[in-house]
Amino acid sequence: MVLLLGGAGFKGPKGDNRMSKFRPSLFMLLHMIVLGIETSCDETAAAVVDGERRILGEALLSQTEEHRPYGGVVPEIAARSHLAHIDALVAEAMDQATIGYDDLDGVAVTGGPGLIGGVIVGVMCAKAIALAAGKPFLAVNHLEGHALSVRLVEEVAFPYLLLLVSGGHCQLMVVEEVGCYHRLGATIDDAAGEAFDKTAKVLGLGYPGGPAVEAKAREGDAGRFDLPRPLAGREGCDFSFSGLKTAVRRTADGFGENGEAAAQDVADLCAEFQAAVGDVLVDRCRNAMKPFRNRNNGGDGLVLAGGVAANGYLRARLEALAGEDGLRLFCPPPELCTDNGAMIAWAGVERLRRGMTDGLDFAPRPRWPLSE
Ligand code: KG4
Ligand code: ZN
Repeated sequence: MVLLLGGAGFKGPKGDNRMSKFRPSLFMLLHMIVLGIETSCDETAAAVVDGERRILGEALLSQTEEHRPYGGVVPEIAARSHLAHIDALVAEAMDQATIGYDDLDGVAVTGGPGLIGGVIVGVMCAKAIALAAGKPFLAVNHLEGHALSVRLVEEVAFPYLLLLVSGGHCQLMVVEEVGCYHRLGATIDDAAGEAFDKTAKVLGLGYPGGPAVEAKAREGDAGRFDLPRPLAGREGCDFSFSGLKTAVRRTADGFGENGEAAAQDVADLCAEFQAAVGDVLVDRCRNAMKPFRNRNNGGDGLVLAGGVAANGYLRARLEALAGEDGLRLFCPPPELCTDNGAMIAWAGVERLRRGMTDGLDFAPRPRWPLSE
């Protein structure tokens, strides 16, 4: 891999490092092709997407097996693995799309937030391609990738209410436009995905936990155990999951003589845990409806995005809520909910259409609030 460090004051192609005068033609709006790169956590991913919502090529390598022995993502292992695989994955996505770098209209990459070693690998790779091919560079906020991913699948009009639930984030926001996000609430401790992962760990279901807990929950009954619904019934749109996580651990501590849990105990606790998360998400979203409606007079979409949105039970709960309140639920397919390159490429298309490109002096960001 060629690593390029764009220092302060570095000028992009034609010496214009913000490219703010970029104005695409109508033809370009429809036919623009963007390469997207994602390396912020434990998925190394690249995809090529065009302005007509077509995924022309995509390649993804999950590092699950490398992190499994540690029960969670190890940043150093993640960064090294991204570095080892990113070139081949970009080449694979480009091959599938049967295009060359000259055919691209832009190169988008997750610029943060995330594990900084991985983010640096992706950003340097994208900068190298953008510079060598003379194409616009687009630094995408990972959360924006999730927030806009649904528009890669269907035409969801702005503004919409977004529930973003992933391994690192849990937020409710109004998506007013590309680049314009108003946060209504967020978690005050753990993210929802983290709670799924910790629950799986405590119950010996392995890593990553979300899909395993969902599968076990299907075999169990909610209600046999009694778990809390943190913040439910209270005002506001914030979330809290740490108390729920602790309650799961305490309940599991009481299982079996030697700490060995019976299969039915595990399934019932998973079902109760998932029901508790569902109750909390529904309660918080219900509180968000009023401020959402106060901020706009046209939007009728509730969008569910992020890795936890792959959960079928939670989708059904939010679909029911949206129906009650006269909103429509939109949710990307599961493979676009968890981290992927296509959502970053698509966010790149959305930004490129609006001339929102970045200079090669962009510095990768471990933290990057979306409302900034
Ligand atoms: O969006 P994502 O791939 O990465 C982050 O940006 O964090 O989300 C990963 C999270 C993990 O915590 C994982 O356990 C959770 O999404 N997840 C699920 C499901 N599939 C993935 N949680 C609940 N049910 C699922 N089916
Ligand atoms: Zn994510």
